[in-house]
Amino acid sequence: MIKTLTALALTAAIGFAPTAFAQQKVEATLKADQPTGEISRYVYGQFSEHLGAGIYEGVWVGEDSAIPNTRGIRNDVVKALKDIKVPVIRWPGGCFADEYHWRDGIGERSKRPSRKNNWWGGSPETNHFGTHEFFEFAEQVGADAYLAVNVGSSNPTEMREWIEYLTSPGDDTLAQERRANGRDEPFKVPFIGIGNENWGCGGEMTAEYYANEYRRFSSFFHKGKDNPAIRVAGGANAFDINWTDVVVGHAGRRMDAISVHYYTLPTGNWSKKGAARGFGEDQWFSTFHQTLRMDDLLKQHTAAMDKHDKDKRIALYVDEWGTWYDVEEGTNPGHLYQQNTLRDGIVAAANFNIFHEYTDRVKMTNIAQTINVLQAMILTDGPNIALTPTYYAFKMYVPFHDSTHLPLEVTAPTWTVGDKSIPAFNTTAARGKDGKIYIAVANMHPQNGYVLNVNLGSEKAKSVSGEVLTHTQMDAHNTPGKPEVIAPKAYTGGKVKGNVLELNIPAKSVVVVRLD
Ligand code: AHR
Repeated sequence: MIKTLTALALTAAIGFAPTAFAQQKVEATLKADQPTGEISRYVYGQFSEHLGAGIYEGVWVGEDSAIPNTRGIRNDVVKALKDIKVPVIRWPGGCFADEYHWRDGIGERSKRPSRKNNWWGGSPETNHFGTHEFFEFAEQVGADAYLAVNVGSSNPTEMREWIEYLTSPGDDTLAQERRANGRDEPFKVPFIGIGNENWGCGGEMTAEYYANEYRRFSSFFHKGKDNPAIRVAGGANAFDINWTDVVVGHAGRRMDAISVHYYTLPTGNWSKKGAARGFGEDQWFSTFHQTLRMDDLLKQHTAAMDKHDKDKRIALYVDEWGTWYDVEEGTNPGHLYQQNTLRDGIVAAANFNIFHEYTDRVKMTNIAQTINVLQAMILTDGPNIALTPTYYAFKMYVPFHDSTHLPLEVTAPTWTVGDKSIPAFNTTAARGKDGKIYIAVANMHPQNGYVLNVNLGSEKAKSVSGEVLTHTQMDAHNTPGKPEVIAPKAYTGGKVKGNVLELNIPAKSVVVVRLD
């Protein structure tokens, strides 16, 4: 929980805070006896679309590739994703989903049709990665599947038949076809999104029109024993609160979750978003200013849901989020390839800390996107891969999967640049499944470190250990095939004195600690 301390408004006059503020002490109180809810592991979900090198190259190299693979899926990527315990992968889009026909992606690969990927650079879509390949990928990673079905350019029959093909245990023709294609047992499909961005690339619908479409599609969804999937309604564009209000109001009875998408653009301007690296302190600040709007966004959408769903039966899935920069020079603008720096690692952590505050509604999020696209976990170049600072933030937060959120009250110093202010850092705390207390801090300030004195109340601890992700360079990043520049290190800045935990938090860092 973050409040801001306006007493430090002095920084407004001078821009970035002077070093005199370095190591400022900040008091915090952990309320370990007042748990607020479960932080679902699905909050750490991924999104992988047929876009640029996200699937082809990133995941699928084919069985004959020289790149080590298992049934066509690269081993290095699977291992890296297993290490961060990816709980769920959303697929096949994104905008791609509302133009995707699942029948294109089943059966013998050489006979599958080649299509044009109209949304993403007009690139060829071979359909070599289809339904069976996706489930193979998810199963190798150990993740659950979250499918997005085509609403914008299709009909409920196509959705119903795909679901039957996937989930029917019977002897019907679709189940037989699945078996003929190599899969005897039904696939496990716990999550199905009905459309994607139907206010935009998913059909340019109004909220009222989509609500009706949603009702029509959901009639043919046949939720039940064979298909127990959570029905996810296509959600709003960022702060379009009216969308959530109308769709939940008109169709809430037939949904289990609704999504929302919010991207962090440093400039807030889609035609000149800002660079992924080589940026200055101005864009470092504006990136965090934009990212922290996630808190207000969740507050407003959940308030709209509360109007129609007082018992909080319907979940809110932030099923696309992350940084979106101008593409790297020399790359296809339709492929959304961007580097990923320390700034992205801290953006990820700052978002996790916000998501944890909404355990009653935010049961899943999916960062965009897993590999080679937008705020990626992994970048590939031929046989080489790089793990990004965002990947490492996900790794550091693994103990928060299915943990119990605990309030951590802290008044963070305000960081002001020009006429805008943000808290310099945000925090979170939880009791992990192992019974230990975990605390995380995302310090967004590029120059100021802080000493956080956490009053542990009745909670007893003898020692503290953890990891820190930081670097001297704001845009430190890793490159496939080159030595690793940035990775978490053992954290040695904490000590326990009686019932007070002291944490030295470096400037521009993510710190995650465990109390023993
Ligand atoms: O993640 C890239 C694109 O962003 C997705 O395809 C779309 O849903 C969103 O606009």
